[in-house]
Amino acid sequence: MTVAASKTGSILILDFGSQYTQLIARRLRELEVYCEILPYTASRQAIMASRPAGIILSGGPASVHEKGSPRPDQFVFEAGVPVLGICYGMQLLVELHGGTVAPSKKREYGHADLEIVADSPLFADLPQHIQVWMSHGDSASRLHNGFRVDARTGAAPYAAISDEAKRQYGIQFHPEVVHTPLGAKVLENFARRICRFDKRWSMASLLETSVAAIRAQVGERGKVVCALSGGVDSSVAAALIAKAIGSRLYCIYVDTGLGRHGDRERAEKVLGQELNLNLKIVDASKLFLGRLKGVSDPERKRKIIGKTFIEVFDKEAKRIKGATFLAQGTLYPDVIESVSVHGPSAVIKSHHNVGGLPKKMKLNLVEPLRMLFKDEVRRLGKEIGISSDLLGAHPFPGPGLAIRVLGAVTPELLKTLRDADLIMREELKNAGWYDKVWQAFVVILPSVRSVGVMGDGRTYENTVVVRSVDSRDGMTADWSRLPYDLMQKMSSRIVGEVKGVNRVAYDISSKPPATIEWE
Ligand code: XMP
Repeated sequence: MTVAASKTGSILILDFGSQYTQLIARRLRELEVYCEILPYTASRQAIMASRPAGIILSGGPASVHEKGSPRPDQFVFEAGVPVLGICYGMQLLVELHGGTVAPSKKREYGHADLEIVADSPLFADLPQHIQVWMSHGDSASRLHNGFRVDARTGAAPYAAISDEAKRQYGIQFHPEVVHTPLGAKVLENFARRICRFDKRWSMASLLETSVAAIRAQVGERGKVVCALSGGVDSSVAAALIAKAIGSRLYCIYVDTGLGRHGDRERAEKVLGQELNLNLKIVDASKLFLGRLKGVSDPERKRKIIGKTFIEVFDKEAKRIKGATFLAQGTLYPDVIESVSVHGPSAVIKSHHNVGGLPKKMKLNLVEPLRMLFKDEVRRLGKEIGISSDLLGAHPFPGPGLAIRVLGAVTPELLKTLRDADLIMREELKNAGWYDKVWQAFVVILPSVRSVGVMGDGRTYENTVVVRSVDSRDGMTADWSRLPYDLMQKMSSRIVGEVKGVNRVAYDISSKPPATIEWE
């Protein structure tokens, strides 16, 4: 059976290891084309399961000449749907159909002028010359079996090829990167014209299908428990599940005593009152602070917090009779990471997940966001009606302020840090910078005391550090170039209003080699 015979549901991207694979998915979804990514090793069954209307073979670092270079299942070409090969994907098309791919004399990298020389549906509605981005070592040097040339560049005579009869298309350039300004049109032409994939993937339709899927998974009577952190992912996941099953979703917010000013209140207001979730707040701050007393090693702090969190949550969850499901706000990048051709990546630190919860609790997972990127989660949250105050909030680590008080945590240091952090955020918001940066926070250095003067007296007090970074995904980051006036306001207000602080520093380290958090 071919896929085309069944009802199609996506454009499938097979990942050959290119750093741009996720971008192909992003571009398609921006065009409201639903797509999925699978590793190139995907079996016939896995390919069938995503019901593709078309298949894209991504680029990748390998050369088709290398022994053992990645090849897809033959089914890709037998599924009866159009195929688009990008860069390495195009070279595969050439090689697998009897053409020749040769190492270029010179690696072509950067901008190129693409001249379209044939009438191909892939280039419909595009001018004859477009600017494209090239990044390849090998190129096709001889075509075979029905392929013809559709476009060329100065350095690549076969920059785009097609076999209309087989509905196979190859492009040597990268349509997914911003350096190919009209690249989205090429992807759109493939999905809409060539694959005839008409379905519009919008937030409203996503909301509808997600609600139906949750109902189907949980059933008429099933109960779901959810650990709400008050952050974007768990809040959107919870709101979505509540739309499907109402009060059979039991949300638990564990107050660890390590939150910032207003965190708990915002969770109560937005999640409890505005969204009317079935929310229980458990104040476990004494327990957390007691166990953290005198502990200064960052990893030990994290372990204690993680373990205590599970204990508290588990105890509360057990009170809910008959709950067999656990909600998690897992996002698509984590899903792709764990199945990617590179294998689970070392960059996801184990401590970044609320690790251990599902394994320990033997509950079935409900993960309604597992096919979404972060900004799609925000848009979905908006569609559900979650306030922008919560949706636009900066990332906040699970162990909270415990990893921003360097060394041992005390209630006094937490208070000082909270006060300084609140002022920093207020000023950032007032200046219109809060939404421009990825994340901003304050760190307190209790073991560093420095001398100052205030009025007539000499002071000997703590230093706090303001950290603000720009980043796309938290994996790499650079310090934000905040205006001096804004830094000046933050600094003078913190020193003037927060007792116990007489010095403010600004962190100008990038990640790598530093990390975003200080611990
Ligand atoms: P780093 O410090 O590793 O941070 O550069 C990258 C991103 O992850 C957040 N982060 C954490 N999140 N538990 C979390 O849930 C943690 O232990 C943790 N440590 C860092 C950090 O705030 C940044 O957004």
